[in-house]
Amino acid sequence: MKIGILTGASSGLGAEFAYRAKDCAGGLDELWLIARRTEKLHAVEQKISGCRVRCLSLDLADPASFETYRLLLEVERPDVRLLVDCAGLGFLGNFEDISAQNNAAMCDVNIRALTVLTALTIPYMTRGSGIILVSSIASFAPTPRMTVYSSTKAYVSSLAKGLRAELAPRGIHVLAVNPCPMNTEFLEIGKITGNSRAFARLPRCNPAQVAEGSLRRCEKGRGQYTPLLFFKFYRVLCKLLPHNFIMHFSKV
Ligand SMILES: NC(=O)c1ccc[n+]([C@@H]2O[C@H](COP(=O)([O-])OP(=O)(O)OC[C@H]3O[C@@H](n4cnc5c(N)ncnc54)[C@H](OP(=O)(O)O)[C@@H]3O)[C@@H](O)[C@H]2O)c1
Repeated sequence: MKIGILTGASSGLGAEFAYRAKDCAGGLDELWLIARRTEKLHAVEQKISGCRVRCLSLDLADPASFETYRLLLEVERPDVRLLVDCAGLGFLGNFEDISAQNNAAMCDVNIRALTVLTALTIPYMTRGSGIILVSSIASFAPTPRMTVYSSTKAYVSSLAKGLRAELAPRGIHVLAVNPCPMNTEFLEIGKITGNSRAFARLPRCNPAQVAEGSLRRCEKGRGQYTPLLFFKFYRVLCKLLPHNFIMHFSKV
C-alpha cells in the first residue's frame, strides 16, 4: 500500500498539499491526514477523490501522539512515498511578551513533533519517496518580534539540509519549502493580523501554488523552494550580509 502522510492537513497550506498529493510518486493508494480538529480533517477528506483517506486526530504538542503514530506504522507497515511535515504555528510579539506556554508550543510542534514524526517514518520509506519539511522565509535570518518562530524554522531548514545529504544514497528526496506570508489561519492564531505594519506590507503567496510547486520540486529531487522572486532575493541577501544588519529590516 503506497501512502502519503501529511501533518497540518486540516487547513491552509497542509490542506492544499492534501488536495494534490494523491498523484505523487506514481500515484498513492491512501493519504493519512493529521491535525487536531477532526471535523476540519473530514471536510478536507470530502474534497479528495480517487484515493482513500484516513483522518488521524492527533495533538502533536502532546508526546503521547508519537506513540499512537509509531504503533500505527508498526501495525500497517505501509510503503510511505510522501511525508509532508506542515503542522506549525507562529506567535507575534517580543520574546518576553509571549507566554512561556506559547513559546513552548512553537518548539513542541515546529521542532519536536516534526523531528519525531520524520524519524519514525523514514524506516518505512524507500527509493524515490520524498519528504517535504515546511520551513519559512523567517528561517533565513532572525526575525525580531517572531524570534522563537524564526529560530524554530532555522532548525527546520538546517535539518532538511542535513537529512537530504544523509538520505541521498537511499534515493529519498528531502525538500525544505520556505513560504512567505500566506492568508491562512496562521495569521489569526499567531495574532499577526492587525499587529504588524511590516508584515502587512509584505507580498503574499498563494498556498495552492506553494503546495503544487513543492510537490513538483520534491519529485525532481530539489532541496529548497522559496516562492516569489522578492523572497529569493531576500534569501541571497541573508546569506551575504551580517544578520545584525539584516535584522534592521527583518523585524516584524
Ligand atoms: N501562513 C503564513 O504566513 C506562513 C508563512 C511561512 C510559513 N508558514 C508555515 O506553513 C505551515 C502551515 O501553516 P498555515 O499557514 O497553513 O497555517 P494554518 O492554516 O494555521 O495551519 C496550521 C496547521 O497545523 C496544525 N496544527 C497546529 N498545531 C497542531 C498540533 N498541536 N497538533 C496537530 N496539528 C497542529 C493545524 O491543525 P489543527 O489546528 O486542526 O490541529 C493546521 O492544520 C506552518 O508550518 C507555518 O509555520 C506559514
